[in-house]
Amino acid sequence: MKTERLDKIIGARTSYSRKEAKSLIAKGRCLLNGKVAKGADTKVDLERDTLTLDGQELLLKEHLYLMLNKPAGVLSAARDPKQPTVIDLVPEHLRRTGLFPAGRLDKDTEGFVLITDDGGFAHRILSPKRHVEKTYEARLDGPVTEEMIRRFSEGVRLDEETLCLPALLRVLEEGEHPLAEVVIVQGMYHQVKRMFEKQGRQVLHLKRTAIGALRLDPQLACGEAREILDKELDQILDKTEAVFPR
Ligand code: URA
Repeated sequence: MKTERLDKIIGARTSYSRKEAKSLIAKGRCLLNGKVAKGADTKVDLERDTLTLDGQELLLKEHLYLMLNKPAGVLSAARDPKQPTVIDLVPEHLRRTGLFPAGRLDKDTEGFVLITDDGGFAHRILSPKRHVEKTYEARLDGPVTEEMIRRFSEGVRLDEETLCLPALLRVLEEGEHPLAEVVIVQGMYHQVKRMFEKQGRQVLHLKRTAIGALRLDPQLACGEAREILDKELDQILDKTEAVFPR
């Protein structure tokens, strides 16, 4: 049985400080298993108990994994003194200390950002050795040629020292500004934009649509976040649906 003090949990799982948590508990605003929780030092069973604060359930799980549909204009950082970050978009009931984005999207890139407080899991999905696939949709300023598809599949050379691992490129929509899908297994700075630039194309709009085999939930509006279910979490590291053999 894994237990923790009530005031410590509220301090860690909400934006209230531990001192404020004590006062909320004293005012009877906190229910443990449906009954008003008595003392700040009450032990809470993280696996079995249910806890609410002002009627809102607090997630007691040790770690939290969130899927955010990041809008353009927001930084993929835990905090920034001047600009809004992905953590600012986490709704109050999913907030807790220690949340950070596992991997970065450019400020103008939209789509799937995984937010967690589990450093071990973040390390596993970001580790260059793991080759977790990241899928993007890129709106381009010109056509995708067979030659570009071949170059992506062989690995684009970004500069003298940097040869990218093979990537998948396919066209989703033809037209003056085609929409392409790109699957990469690395996370280098501006990687997708630079890979296209090397082929003489500008990326007009970029959106991450999947991490591993887990697709961005189409129900999630831009700027919204939700918890990732346990079975979905497995899809991130699942190799059976991978495009590239590992
Ligand atoms: N590649 C880019 O160029 N930008 C991103 O945000 C992610 C991948």
